[in-house]
Amino acid sequence: MNKTIIVSNRLPVNLKLKSGKFEFKASAGGLATGLGSIYKQGENLWIGWPGNAVEENELQQEISTELKKLKMAPVFLTKEDIELYYEGFSNETIWPAFHYFTQYINYKDAYWDAYYEVNRKFCDAILAYAEPEDTIWVHDYQLLLLPMMLREALPDATIAFFQHIPFPSYEIIRMLPWRRQLLEGMVGADLIGFHTYDDMRHFLSAVGRILGLSNESGYIQADHRLVNVDSFPMGIDYDKFANAAISQKTLTKRKKFKDQLGGQKLLITIDRLDYSKGIPQRIRAFDRLLDQREDFHGKVSMIMVVVPSRAKVQSYKELKTEIDTLVGRINSKYSTLNWVPIHYFYRSFPFEELSAFYSMSDIALVTPLRDGMNLVCKEFVASKTDQDGVLILSEMAGASKELVDAILVNPNDISAVEQAIVAALTMSDEEKKSRIASMQSSLKKYDIFQWVEVFMDRLAHVKQKQQEFQSKALDRNIAAEIVSKFKEAERPIVFLDYDGTLVGFKSRPEDAYPDEELLEIVSGLANRCEVVLISGRDKETLGKWFENQKVEMIAEHGVWLKRGDQSEWELYADVDDGWKDDIRKVMDYYVLRTPGAFIEEKHHSLVWHYRKVESGLGDLRMRELFSHLKYMASGHNLQVLEGNMVLEIKRPDINKGRAANSFMRGNEYDFILALGDDWTDEDTFKAMPKDSYTIRVGYDYTQANYNIKNPTEVRKLLKQLMGSK
Ligand code: UDP
Ligand code: G6P
Repeated sequence: MNKTIIVSNRLPVNLKLKSGKFEFKASAGGLATGLGSIYKQGENLWIGWPGNAVEENELQQEISTELKKLKMAPVFLTKEDIELYYEGFSNETIWPAFHYFTQYINYKDAYWDAYYEVNRKFCDAILAYAEPEDTIWVHDYQLLLLPMMLREALPDATIAFFQHIPFPSYEIIRMLPWRRQLLEGMVGADLIGFHTYDDMRHFLSAVGRILGLSNESGYIQADHRLVNVDSFPMGIDYDKFANAAISQKTLTKRKKFKDQLGGQKLLITIDRLDYSKGIPQRIRAFDRLLDQREDFHGKVSMIMVVVPSRAKVQSYKELKTEIDTLVGRINSKYSTLNWVPIHYFYRSFPFEELSAFYSMSDIALVTPLRDGMNLVCKEFVASKTDQDGVLILSEMAGASKELVDAILVNPNDISAVEQAIVAALTMSDEEKKSRIASMQSSLKKYDIFQWVEVFMDRLAHVKQKQQEFQSKALDRNIAAEIVSKFKEAERPIVFLDYDGTLVGFKSRPEDAYPDEELLEIVSGLANRCEVVLISGRDKETLGKWFENQKVEMIAEHGVWLKRGDQSEWELYADVDDGWKDDIRKVMDYYVLRTPGAFIEEKHHSLVWHYRKVESGLGDLRMRELFSHLKYMASGHNLQVLEGNMVLEIKRPDINKGRAANSFMRGNEYDFILALGDDWTDEDTFKAMPKDSYTIRVGYDYTQANYNIKNPTEVRKLLKQLMGSK
């Protein structure tokens, strides 16, 4: 049976070692708690680090056996791995960078090396369990290189990646020396998920700028493999929290706690100890409230659960000291014999106690400075079954995009947070109820099970799309058939587009000249059949590059023709360029406003190039110009077409298809092959007789019969043809 292998740095259980013995405790953190409800289904398996450094073989064996019973498999880390990969690159480089705390980023090669090696360790561990039909679902920032490592080992595997923390703006990513490798690692997956649309668009922008891969509605072609990027806001196991809140265990605990605390209003805050959570800022806001509103003294207390986390990392140690000092100061300043403003716990709590904390509290104060999602706020809302509670939520948490009925605050604005607490303390019952009810209904609907279902559904969808492209992929058998038909043919003809088909794209078009190998292929092939180079290039360039070759050339999409045995170009289409002056004026204006853009003039068209323009700006201007030209085009009976980093305006009746057709007219070819890579070649494909072989380079939708991966593969095929005659 197919299984899903979940992979994350930390397993949902955490190993405690005590004098040679061990026990497992539940791990804290959104990833572990969120997925905890789903990995137990079917044959599924969770692979990850059980916590701690275990280096003795025998103990490793024992731990593996115990984990197996829990449907988990371990990746053991050494002390050095923990220091350099986990505390180091993961939590001193990526974590601060991705949460916009650039002042804490550590750039160390040794961290990077360990990160690479441990990702490899994870890859090896997975390969020991993975079977061809399995789905491998990799989680979070500690394993960004893993999807590509897996892809290299298992090219056809179903691999998904989900990032639980924010994906920052390109401005941050570009600071990291290893930015390219990190992004390349991620695009090894078939589906890449983030919590919010902002994370997704930041990722797509980084991939566009750093890897040069553009996207269309979240689909990118990485090495001609389709990859989907989308946002999937993660939910919680809603019923688990709602049911726990009314369970006897929770009610008993709740009563006990309430009896101890008295009748004050309770403000709950629960976080891992992390600078991204904004804990000191929140304490300061509470301090401010107590300072300004004496009437609340004795009437409101904060229960502050801070779960120890990454305690060896310097920035976390400093934060701990800061929080201790702040809490100490406030409690010593305001406490009375029967009232303590902040009940501070530096430890984790079992589920039932958390449930009691949530359900007995009047307000949850969730104010991270940056958070991928934040599940605590969702757990609070689900636990308030009596609907008598208020959520104050930071705008910087991913959850704020969904929980719009919370009181939303900017966590850096201490006075706004203070006012939000006052508003929550004085809110009418009716308003509380209506806000919580609306949030509950959306959390109930989009719970963790729904999240997994939607994610898996998208994964199946992208795999299916890949298959559609793959079904047209030119495999060995088809290539052999083409070669054999070519060999038998008495009058074969081959149409070859140039850019993107015979050579890859260069940022300066003039640099894409033919290399030695290509010249040999073209002349070798031209000795065996008719070869027609059919390109959008101008005739001067093509003429110069293929001077003295026997090939036929059609330039500028069919405006010019030069036969192999002639030295002059002949006009192959009527050209009326009376429209150009008007259009050029408009294009010039967009060149002036767009550094790096330029205009290319062809006989039948004007082309606005933006390959060298700052990415983003180029696209923006192109869209603007597109709508401007479209409006003008209708008056002149012209056609505006979007190409690869170009916008071209031309006469609609001039195209490669028309040219190819008239070239073949009156001749009887018994073998026709046409190769091209973009929309201009689609005209050629459409014009070809039924029994021709038409092949589009790259895995895009096409009228051609087949797709082929890239120019390297095209050259391989052409060499095979040469060798066959
Ligand atoms: N949590 C826990 N034990 C505790 C306190 C919190 O297991 O003592 C859980 C909490 O229920 C929540 C998770 O830790 O599910 C925190 O997730 P969140 O997304 O809010 O923040 P993260 O820690 O992932 O940054
Ligand atoms: C966040 C991260 C998780 C991580 C968790 C706890 O939720 O997204 O990947 O596991 O924090 O952090 P830790 O370093 O203890 O695993």
